[in-house]
Amino acid sequence: MDNNQFLVAPSILSADFSKLAEEIKAVESAGADWIHVDVMDGHFVPNLTIGAPVVSSLRPVTKAVLDVHLMIDHPEKYVDDFLAAGSDYITIHVESSLKVKETLIAIKDGGAKAGITLKPRTTLDEIKPFLELVDLVLVMTVEPGFGGQSFMTEQVEKIKTLKKWREEQGYSYLIEVDGGVNADTVSQCVDADVLVAGSYVFKNDYTQAIKTLKEAKNV
Ligand code: DX5
Ligand code: ZN
Repeated sequence: MDNNQFLVAPSILSADFSKLAEEIKAVESAGADWIHVDVMDGHFVPNLTIGAPVVSSLRPVTKAVLDVHLMIDHPEKYVDDFLAAGSDYITIHVESSLKVKETLIAIKDGGAKAGITLKPRTTLDEIKPFLELVDLVLVMTVEPGFGGQSFMTEQVEKIKTLKKWREEQGYSYLIEVDGGVNADTVSQCVDADVLVAGSYVFKNDYTQAIKTLKEAKNV
């Protein structure tokens, strides 16, 4: 990985769903590294989006990493569907399941990379037991559920701590930030590796927006 630049994962939540394949090809040719897919069940979060069949339809459209963020209760019930759909990363919320460890292991055994995430009000202590297992830790900088919210600066401490723990303990996870990331807030994310950006990418020139984020690691 080029540590001098962020990896950028546009969130398709802000894309035009009437032409999703074209939107994905467009952000991919605009420099996107990953495609972030927000799965919501109307239960774990107060919004409803898409499921595994959409991931499955997108898989042949792009070579980019499909980064699936499950904001659903009982993710263990759906992991097989998202694995079969061709997800590269599957991230679950620590608050969403009583079987977090088993679910992470199932994701890895199924051939995908496993991620853990937490809501803003959840402390890092809750995910600590799983850090040695995961490939990705996603720090939410908004309340999960909707795109276009403001970046929560008080969450930045979690990014710094995760980086410190990774160095101290030799963990291998990537640190990803999700919510309110844009040209103004990206400077607060320097300790992360991957940036999710929905509205900032899709409401601007895709190439310029992605470039601005990627290069902000060095500023
Ligand atoms: C929120 C989602 C985010 C969202 C980010 O629940 O997890 O991925 O799409 O959107 P922006 O970048 O607009 O905050
Ligand atoms: Zn997300």
